[in-house]
Amino acid sequence: MVESSPEVQHGLQDVVALESRICFIDGHQGRLIYDGYDIRDLASKSNFEEVAYLLWYGRLPTGDQLAALRARLVELRQLPAAMAERIDSMPATATPMDVLRTAVSELALFEPEETRPGPSSIGGAQRLTAVLPSILGQFHRRRAGLPPLTTRPDLSHASYLLYALLNRDPSELEGRALDVALILHADHELNASTFAARVTASTLSDLYSAVTSAVGTLKGPLHGGANERVMELLDEIGTPERAEEVVKSKLARHERIMGFGHRVYKVEDPRATILREWSRRIGESKGDLHYYELLRKVEEVVHREKGLYPNVDLYSGSVYTFMGIPHDLFTPVFAASRVAGWTAHVLEEYQDLRLIRPTAKYIGPTDLPYVPIAGRN
Ligand code: ACO
Repeated sequence: MVESSPEVQHGLQDVVALESRICFIDGHQGRLIYDGYDIRDLASKSNFEEVAYLLWYGRLPTGDQLAALRARLVELRQLPAAMAERIDSMPATATPMDVLRTAVSELALFEPEETRPGPSSIGGAQRLTAVLPSILGQFHRRRAGLPPLTTRPDLSHASYLLYALLNRDPSELEGRALDVALILHADHELNASTFAARVTASTLSDLYSAVTSAVGTLKGPLHGGANERVMELLDEIGTPERAEEVVKSKLARHERIMGFGHRVYKVEDPRATILREWSRRIGESKGDLHYYELLRKVEEVVHREKGLYPNVDLYSGSVYTFMGIPHDLFTPVFAASRVAGWTAHVLEEYQDLRLIRPTAKYIGPTDLPYVPIAGRN
């Protein structure tokens, strides 16, 4: 048995792996910054396309630059016909995240010139961001029996995403709520999926491989899948009076309450603060504050019992549910936003490339005598 000297940082907690200009999280003050701008300003004054530009280029766009990016993203929404056929051939019972991961990987077959690592990957970044709603719409519409997708040049990224999924235009309030949700999810420093994308890019692999790694990583319930589980919890609780009993019994069984806790935030996640307000606004507009009131009660119990604060996933599910987005599309909606951050990080990785390769502390034996196969039991 050997015990190498370095201390293990389990889960790489508190390990500073690289320098980045893209995103800063102040976990003690509850602040989130994209390229110098506070998320609260971006969420109240900006739109998703502006934020994507900010993440890719490191500065907010002028009016002309934003108009050019919007036009480009609209142009890039169109799926190659063979790709659309390929999605149509996937089982209708597949999970949308499996479809997304497979489609992102296969899309590279149709655009080899954009897959090469390097600054030219910005074209691929825009392509992937523009086309993700189309992949999801192509799949979901078929399984839900909705009419075929058109690219709707008149719609913003957020509104097109909702149209692609539900075959209807959002109301002004819904459109803005989804735009804000996409802004809030667009980046979050070295979260697990972004780290996975950067590890892949650090081998000089291509953008599509990096985003495929990221989609697979986002799929896990401890990362992207939590808001779906929050809605399951709310349905299990039913009424605010039952929240105390259900949450306490889960905690007594050492179960995690989804939508709470965070590796970096030691106070409330600022994205949860903003989405709580949107959950209330959307609920009020529908004349139904059921989910909002349940969530407030769950929050109170979890904070009292465990001292945990809500994260971005606590309120987002209620906002999406009111729009009619099916629960298994919540994580894909997250991906349709985070793709801007993933690709910005991959571009940054290409500019400042160093193979990401940590080491492990070996805890096994080193001097076992070799046993020929016939002598093993
Ligand atoms: N419910 C109950 N207990 C919790 C929760 C929770 N949501 N989160 C943390 N804890 C407890 C753990 O059980 C542990 O308790 P212990 O020390 O008594 O064993 C302690 O808090 C520390 O937990 P860790 O898992 O070590 O903390 P970590 O920083 O690794 O966890 C994580 C972060 C994975 C997000 C965790 O809080 C969690 O599982 N939350 C629920 C899932 C979730 O909401 N994920 C979305 C995160 S945001 C995003 O990815 C977009």
